[in-house]
Parts: sequence; structure tokens; C-alpha cells
Amino acid sequence: MKVIAGNFKSNLTRNASLQYLNALDSKLDSRICDNKQIYIFPSNTSLVQNNYKYITLGAQNCNDSNSGAFTGETSLLHLEEFDIDTILIGHSERRNLFFENDDICARKFNYFKNKNFRIFYCIGESLDVRKNNKYLQFLESQLKAIDTNYKNLIIAYEPIWAIGTGLNATLEQIGECVRYLRDISNAPIIYGGSVNENNSSDILKISDGVLVGSASLDVDKFYQIIKE
Ligand code: PGA
Repeated sequence: MKVIAGNFKSNLTRNASLQYLNALDSKLDSRICDNKQIYIFPSNTSLVQNNYKYITLGAQNCNDSNSGAFTGETSLLHLEEFDIDTILIGHSERRNLFFENDDICARKFNYFKNKNFRIFYCIGESLDVRKNNKYLQFLESQLKAIDTNYKNLIIAYEPIWAIGTGLNATLEQIGECVRYLRDISNAPIIYGGSVNENNSSDILKISDGVLVGSASLDVDKFYQIIKE
């Protein structure tokens, strides 16, 4: 089983997202999707009922609360309205731009684990950590505070230096980290960081899936990645 996930980040309006989802879902069929799980994480204002035939919708972020006084946040109540039960936690942009440290990520993980969500938990080292050759220990430390045996966990290895830079990690670098993480957890280990329609099939041979940012914004490119 391979996981193919697209993260729209803060791109595409609600209209554009709906057009995209309808177009992609109608291009897909059971043969193309055989042995694959397809996920799209649109912006939270673009979430709709999670009842596409081949695509599962997920939230890029959510507050660890049912509802309440959390100005600007989306809460569980809002996801439940659309039957969304998949969430990204710990994306490096959340960690670096919005100061979500390991404690906050673990708190969110525990909250959504208790709600039985499918959790894509993102980890990845900076260029400095990679250069210091401490990246394997670093990845392990990012998983310390969460239950790596959780049955609905997917671990996304996304080296920060490869995200949105066009610089994807080599197959050797990806393979080393995937193997290391497989010793820590039985969860699927997927890779993200400048994945596109040209490199995805090789990456899928050595990992359990891909988390795609920029290349997922174009429905034809994302379809190509799924088809491969
Ligand atoms: P990218 O983003 O494919 O644009 O590098 C990946 C991600 O942030 O998940």
C-alpha cells in the first residue's frame, strides 16, 4: 500500500480547490488507485464533506480542542462537520513559522490520537543538523514524545532543506532515513520535499509514500504522480 498525499498549504481558493478535487476524483479509477491511499490537505476554508470516491480529505492543522475561545483557530467541531478524520501534525512550516515545538506537536498528537484520527506526523532535520551528521538521532528525538505504535500513524520524513527548494534529497539519503525510522516504528514512512512527477516513482520504490507540496497544486502533475 502506498500513500500519496498533497498538501496545498495556503494556496488555492475554495473554488479552485473544489474544481481540483472534482477533476482529480473523476480522473481516478479503482485500477489506478489499487493499493494506494490518496489524500489531499486543502486549506481549512476549503474543507468540504469528506465523501470523495478516491480522495480522502485531511486538515493541515487544527487546535487541540473541541471548540472554545481560540481566536483564529479551527477546532475539532469544524472538522467533524465534514467527517474529516485525518490531520497533519508537526509540518516544518508549523514548527518554524508558528513556533510549534515538540511539546505542542505531542499535545496535538495525543488529542487527535484520542479521537482516533489518522495522523500524518512530520519530522525532518535542518541543513545544519544534516551537516553535523546528527540527523538520525535528531529524527528519533522528534518522535520521543509520541506513541510510535499508534495504529493510525503515518510518519512523514521531510528534511527541511528539501521543502519548497527544488532540492530533493538523494535516494540514498531518503533510503537511509526510511530504514532507520522503520526500526523505530511499524507506521508507514513516507517522504516529502520537492517531490514531483519526475522523481516520485523512484522515491516510491524505497518508501511507503510521498507528501507533495508545490507539485500537488497542479492537478495534472499530481495525477501523474498517482498514476506512476
Ligand atoms: P514541497 O513541499 O513538495 O513543495 O517541497 C513538501 C511539503 O512541505 O510537504
